[in-house]
Amino acid sequence: MKTPILDGLKKLKGENSVSFHMPGHKGKNTLIEWGGYIPYVDTTEVTGMDNLHDPRGIIKESQELAAKAFGAKETIYSINGTTGGIYIALSAVTNPGDKILIQRNSHKSMYNGAILNRLNVEYMYPNYNKKYHVLTGMDPDDIELKLKQDEYIKVVTIVYPNYYGVCSDLKRIAEIVHKYNRILLVDEAHGSHFTFSDKLPMSAIEAGADIVVQSTHKTLPSFTQTSMIHVGTARVDIDKLRDMSSLYQTTSPSYLFMASLEIARAYMEGEGKEKLEESISLVEETIKLLEKIERVHLFTGDEEDHTIYAKDNTKILFRLDGMTGTRAKNILREDYNIRLEMADYYYALILTSLMNEKEDFEKLVDAVESMAKNTPYEEVVPVSIEMPTPKIISPIYEAFYGNKKVMDLRKSIGKISASYVIPYPPGIPLICPGEEITKELCEHIWFLMDKGIEIVGLIGYNKDKIEVVD
Ligand SMILES: Cc1ncc(COP(=O)(O)O)c(C=O)c1O
Repeated sequence: MKTPILDGLKKLKGENSVSFHMPGHKGKNTLIEWGGYIPYVDTTEVTGMDNLHDPRGIIKESQELAAKAFGAKETIYSINGTTGGIYIALSAVTNPGDKILIQRNSHKSMYNGAILNRLNVEYMYPNYNKKYHVLTGMDPDDIELKLKQDEYIKVVTIVYPNYYGVCSDLKRIAEIVHKYNRILLVDEAHGSHFTFSDKLPMSAIEAGADIVVQSTHKTLPSFTQTSMIHVGTARVDIDKLRDMSSLYQTTSPSYLFMASLEIARAYMEGEGKEKLEESISLVEETIKLLEKIERVHLFTGDEEDHTIYAKDNTKILFRLDGMTGTRAKNILREDYNIRLEMADYYYALILTSLMNEKEDFEKLVDAVESMAKNTPYEEVVPVSIEMPTPKIISPIYEAFYGNKKVMDLRKSIGKISASYVIPYPPGIPLICPGEEITKELCEHIWFLMDKGIEIVGLIGYNKDKIEVVD
């Protein structure tokens, strides 16, 4: 009997590693012991179980409770994660052919949403903080300029917070977007926990966003794939949103997923809120301890960078002198059984949640201290990892759906890409369909590959080919 996935999962469980990665439940139960319920409660829409596509009973009540907890006018559960939630939200606030302004370091679901809805995109770039080599926030003035110059932009999409926990001044952005009578869609995939503590940045709904999508599973204790779409203002047509939810979501939504969203919300209204406060204190202590370790540097913000309005430090971004972020992440896993969320050339990201215990933080500090002491220095050449700014030649959907051919990446310079090239993590495209392949882009890709960063979207065993528009 061959069960490779199950075998892999059993192996992972057997490792019993310390989790500083998603999901936010960190392998723990909250209000119920799931083991006693699965698979018995995995059901379908039998009488009394309501229907996600036309909620009138228990699902309706559950979504209403979620809306109340998150301060929204209306909440819809997305059981295909924030990826599905973004497709739904984007299609609810646009019509095919509309133009939208996307923050360029968005997750690929935003670009895919533009393809699916045949939207024309205009990009705005976040700040690249040269002192720390980190992508930080959006400058609200840049957004205002774009909106002033282009009356056709219908929707502005913002990532808040970004993967590193950096938050732009969303309140001001919302004011600007509304001043020009446009719609603000916020990808708050990494910020579901904001609502539950005053010590965290304000939530996107509180900042005035019109529609918000959150990956509950990333920072709160719910199952992977569970997200919520929150409506913040009357600018969103709720009937259209419901139609779009029906269009994109399966007709057999998982009750385990929906119940898990509900449990996360209920937990956060009670015991979880206190646990979140405790974990924020643990994070603060951990940051202080890590900062004392020789070779270790943390990115907790930069007062000189005006694009950083707030920083969510439950995402601890750190680096060591003489060590790449990728190497630090690998050493922590291989030698100390601690798994981190992600790493790039410089940094490694410790993704904490309220479900991490004191012992997890203690193990982390001890491991980083030992790693800093015992790992020989290697050369980390200071380079800019600023994202290239590709030129759009044709609409993203045209290049995606049109004729394509595969060619050698080296020979593709000057051609139009028909696919994405995406480093994982963080899953942000370097180039999208419809954009020109440049020498600068190729060099950036080779640099990342050389540093051991996984690149998706290139073809062939050596990842040396790319699909271009024919
Ligand atoms: C900023 C951002 N948005 C959206 C997503 C997609 O979220 P999900 O995994 O819930 O589909 C991710 C996933 O990592 C993300 O980082």
